[in-house]
Amino acid sequence: MAISLRLALGYVSGKKETHYAAELGVYRGRSLQVLMSEGMATGANFNWIGIDTFSGLPPLGEKDRELAPENSPYLLRPMYDDTTLREVEAFLEPMGMGDRLKLYEGLLADVLPSLPERMYTFVNISIKTYEAHLQALEYFYPRMREGGVIVLDDVYNRRFPMAEMAVNEFLADKPEQIFQLTGSDNVGLVKRGLLVKHGPDTIARIKR
Ligand SMILES: C[S@@+](CC[C@H](N)C(=O)[O-])C[C@H]1O[C@@H](n2cnc3c(N)ncnc32)[C@H](O)[C@@H]1O
Repeated sequence: MAISLRLALGYVSGKKETHYAAELGVYRGRSLQVLMSEGMATGANFNWIGIDTFSGLPPLGEKDRELAPENSPYLLRPMYDDTTLREVEAFLEPMGMGDRLKLYEGLLADVLPSLPERMYTFVNISIKTYEAHLQALEYFYPRMREGGVIVLDDVYNRRFPMAEMAVNEFLADKPEQIFQLTGSDNVGLVKRGLLVKHGPDTIARIKR
């Protein structure tokens, strides 16, 4: 996470300006807390948004049901529903972000059209399903600054293979490729995908 945030800042120059960053899939706020701390440590001015239902995974669409591995627990019962917006606000409050953090409660499909227009330096997509990945990528990909970074938290998650399917489908006609980041956390080995948004400058460099 730290590497990807610093990478984004390295590509998108301008430490003094405001950098917009987002996390889709906040759950209890643990990864957002880490990301915001990393953002502060860079010395750059990050403005964060976080989007979640704060009541768990929404009902799966047809495609997600079709792609879910047999006997997946989320086919049978709610998942990630042990959280509330108020608890997450209280958890993140000591970071003192003030109005540099805004949490949105609701479905991605409802929240995204209500967001102010702006360009993003960093986005963490941590939302599991096929449908939500497509919604997220369709919204954020064109709003990433050149050199901005999208972290694909679930793209190598075997329990949610629909994430990789959606990402590959979305990127099929785009010039970017996914870099695999391998690390470990308290549950073991973790693989994440990282996408650096190209722009006219980076595309010209690739073609040369
Ligand atoms: C694995 S959790 C996120 C974990 C978090 N990033 C962390 O590491 O602490 C996935 C979250 O995505 C949210 N989510 C999934 N689909 C969504 C959608 N369509 N709209 C809003 N939130 C969604 C769920 O509510 C859940 O809290």
